[in-house]
Amino acid sequence: MARLLVEGGLRLNGKVEVSGSKNSLLPIIAAAAMATEGESHIENVAPYTDVLDLCQILRELGATVEWEGETSLRIEASRLNGWVAPYVLARRLRGSSYLLGLLLARMGKAEVAIPGGCEIGSRPIDYHMRGLGMLGAVTRVERGAVLAETDGLRGATIYVDRASVGTTVNLMLAGSTADGVTVLDNAAREPEIVDLANFLNGMGAHVRGAGTSLVRIEGVRSLAGTRHEAIPDRIEAGTYLLSAVTGRGKVRVEKMIPEHLRAFLLKLEEAGAKVGEGTDWVEVEAEAGLMGIDIQTQPYPGFPTDLHPLFVGVLTLAPGVSVVEETIFDNRFGYAGELIRMGANIKIERSTAIVRGTDKLTGAPLEITDLRGGAALILAAMAAEGTSELDGINFLERGYYQLEARLNSLGASIRRSGD
Ligand code: EPU
Repeated sequence: MARLLVEGGLRLNGKVEVSGSKNSLLPIIAAAAMATEGESHIENVAPYTDVLDLCQILRELGATVEWEGETSLRIEASRLNGWVAPYVLARRLRGSSYLLGLLLARMGKAEVAIPGGCEIGSRPIDYHMRGLGMLGAVTRVERGAVLAETDGLRGATIYVDRASVGTTVNLMLAGSTADGVTVLDNAAREPEIVDLANFLNGMGAHVRGAGTSLVRIEGVRSLAGTRHEAIPDRIEAGTYLLSAVTGRGKVRVEKMIPEHLRAFLLKLEEAGAKVGEGTDWVEVEAEAGLMGIDIQTQPYPGFPTDLHPLFVGVLTLAPGVSVVEETIFDNRFGYAGELIRMGANIKIERSTAIVRGTDKLTGAPLEITDLRGGAALILAAMAAEGTSELDGINFLERGYYQLEARLNSLGASIRRSGD
C-alpha cells in the first residue's frame, strides 16, 4: 500500500491554485443525468476518487460519461435505463445518496446502498428519505440499501432538518421535474447549493432562492444538457492557506472565491495571521504562527466543519488554550489520537476539543481514517520535527487532487513510497 513520507520543519512560500469543488461536482454530475435530451459539459472537474466512482455508477446505469481533456466531463444521459446502483461503488461515497433523487425523477424507482464515506459519524439518510416521501416516494431499507418507488413525484413544502446539505441536494433534484411547486424551508445555504441551482437552471429548471434558507422549485416537464464551470473548492483553498501557518511563511491561493471562506478567514485573522485578498485570491502570512482561539462549527455561512480538523492541527502549536466545538458531525475527532502521537496536547470532551498549545510536534507513523482529518495530519507533519509516515492515503484522494505536488511547490517535502 502506498504511504506518504512527510519531512517536517520546512518553510513554505509561494502561490498555488485550487481545483473545482468536490462537493459541488458530486451533485452537479448527478444532476447532469437528469437531462433527457442534449449533453452537459462540466468544467473545472478534478479526478477525485469520489467523482470517478460517481461517474462509473452513472455509466453502469446507462449514461455516457467521458473526459474531454483533463478538467472537463461530457455527460449524456438520454438512455439512462438502470435503477439499481452497483452496491459496492455506491456504498463508498456519501454523494451516491443523490442517486435517489435522480433515479426517482428519471426512472420512478431506485435502489441505492446506504452510503458510507469518511469515518466522521453515523451519518444516517433519514432526512433524505422523509423528504422524498413527502414528494410522493415510498421508501424502505432492505439488505443495506434504500429502495424507493413513486408513481409520480409531486411538489410539497418540506422543512429540511438541520439544514442538511445532502437532503437539500436530493430534494432539489427530485423537485426539479416534480409536478407542481416544492418549497424547501431551512434549506442548506452552502455555496455548493447555489452552484447546483445555477446548473439546474441552465438545464431548464426553475429553482429560486438558493443560498437562502427558502428554496422554491417550480417543477418543469424535462431538463436538457447545458455547459457549466464548477466553483473552486473552498476547503482545498483553506487547506493551503493553513499551510502558511505550519510552514511559518506566506502562501497565496489563486482561483478561489474569498467570500466562500469568510468565517474561516476572520478566525485566521483573530488567531493572529495576516490575511490579504483580491477578487479571486487570498494570501496568508503567518511567520510567527497563531495564538490559541475558540471555534464552533456551523452550517454555512458559519465556520465550516470540513476545516475544523485542519484548524485543530495548527492550533496544537499555538500558545494558549483553544476550544473547538464540532456541532455538525457526531464523531469527527478520529484524527486527534494521531496528533497526540506527535506530542499534541488535546482532550476531547463530548463534541469539543480542548487544545493546549505545545512548543513542538515530532514526526510519527500515522494512520489516516478520513479525508479532512488526513489533511490535518499532513499539515501537522509538515510542522513537526523529523519525518512522519502516513498510511490510509486513499482517503485523501477522495477530495484532493495533486495535494503533495501542490504543497511541495510551496516548499514542503512530501514523497510517496510503496505504490
Ligand atoms: N443527517 C442526518 N440525517 C440525514 C442527513 C444528515 O441525521 O438524513 C445529519 C448528519 O449526520 C450530520 C448533519 O445532519 O450530523 C448534517 O449533515 P449534512 O446532510 O449537511 O451533510 P452531508 O450532506 O452528508 C456534506 C458534505 C460534507 C460536509 C457536510 C457539511 C458532500 C458529499 N459532503 O455532507 O463534506 O462536511 O455537507 O457541510 O457534499 C467532506 O468533504 O469532507 C465532507 C465530509
